[in-house]
Amino acid sequence: MSSILQCMDCGREYPIQTVLYTCDNCGGLLDVQHDLDILHKTVTHDTFDRRLGTLDMPLSSGVWRYKELIYPEVDPALIVSRNEGNTNLYPVSTLAAWAGVKTLYFKHEGENPTGSFKDRGMTTGVSQARVLGKTRVACASTGNTSASMAAYAAFAGMEGIVFFQNRQIALGKLSQAVAYGATCIQISADFDRNLELVREISEKLGIYVLNSVNPFRLEGQKTIMFEAIQQLRWRVPDWIVCPGGNLGNSSAFGKGLYELHRLGLVDRMPRIAIIQAEGANPLYRAFRQGFRVYEPVHAETIATAIKIGNPVNYPKAVRALRWTDGVVEQVSDQEIMDAKALIDGCGIGCEPASACSLAGTRKLAQAGVIRPGDTVVGILTGHILKDPDATIGYHSDSLPNVTATYPNRLQQAEPSVDEIVRILEGAREPAMP
Ligand code: F0G
Repeated sequence: MSSILQCMDCGREYPIQTVLYTCDNCGGLLDVQHDLDILHKTVTHDTFDRRLGTLDMPLSSGVWRYKELIYPEVDPALIVSRNEGNTNLYPVSTLAAWAGVKTLYFKHEGENPTGSFKDRGMTTGVSQARVLGKTRVACASTGNTSASMAAYAAFAGMEGIVFFQNRQIALGKLSQAVAYGATCIQISADFDRNLELVREISEKLGIYVLNSVNPFRLEGQKTIMFEAIQQLRWRVPDWIVCPGGNLGNSSAFGKGLYELHRLGLVDRMPRIAIIQAEGANPLYRAFRQGFRVYEPVHAETIATAIKIGNPVNYPKAVRALRWTDGVVEQVSDQEIMDAKALIDGCGIGCEPASACSLAGTRKLAQAGVIRPGDTVVGILTGHILKDPDATIGYHSDSLPNVTATYPNRLQQAEPSVDEIVRILEGAREPAMP
């Protein structure tokens, strides 16, 4: 049997080449489903280990290395890949001590070609657009999806169309989408409304939607879990900690981990901790009420990547949390920016939303949910250069409602040896606690 699309709620099946994002029957979200019984017999650790270091595209990609678990039937000639993935897993012992856990790694998805984890989902999404013969692709975005889609669309010779909120898009992201040649439309509506608009207009005009409501996006993004666990020599960490916005990434992680477990490639699943910004926390609120109530919120946070009040993948994220005995935590803008300063100060660096992984780990360790002896993999979702305004705003202490706890102040000097020597011999404020 080959891969199919299947509704996560009513189970209705559709051929893999159907252009559909939610079930015709009940409106549920769709999954790309593979035949796990066949894969169980054919796929081993060695299938993926022997591809490490290959120079041959597409198997050299950190997504397509796992082709059997992503899209086994796709014609390799139709794959649009920029060798995404293959990102580093950094052990960070100083930050582990700060967070209160024994072992902490950062999987740095900002090291993807356009600087965020979105490239992993975009290689699969744009490849499917090519399979379907589409020439126009579209998304609503808080920034990174648009940068990634614009790049992959240009690379594949398609038109990319992007709907942005008309304020608070990080400059690095906006400039990427413009530079890669996408049709960029700024709209006076928030992300949630823009996503509704893009879905409605795309339906009308036959454009292929590449937001994470598209199940092919999640197939690519689940490889973050495959690659991290392969880098740990197939040993399973206790926790995966990641930021949550539209909840595509955490949903993909749940699916990927579930599949690895079903295929016997791991002997247990790590627990997932999804971290939301306090001002954009609909999943956190639902979690606190045992998922009995779900209410969208009006979103506001300095971590603009996750400024989302009504995440489209909410049901899949709940499923991921149930599969992995997961938890949800929230962190303030202050906690996010302080954690970012510490990640940046290690020489690794990330954008604000990514720092939820460290801030959330610390909070959950302080609450005793993550135990001191646990091994944690935190996901850094975006590159430090995505949002320079937030970085400079923090270090110059000019952000609203955030005080720089770990500032590295920019110094000014006249071209005078004496003055500069005085600065260099003066006490420097400590970057680390
Ligand atoms: N971190 C970064 C840097 C992001 O750009 C996003 C989402 C997330 C975390 C949250 O991931 O939505 O899968 O829960 N950015 C989207 C965008 C919404 O349009 O770029 P999620």
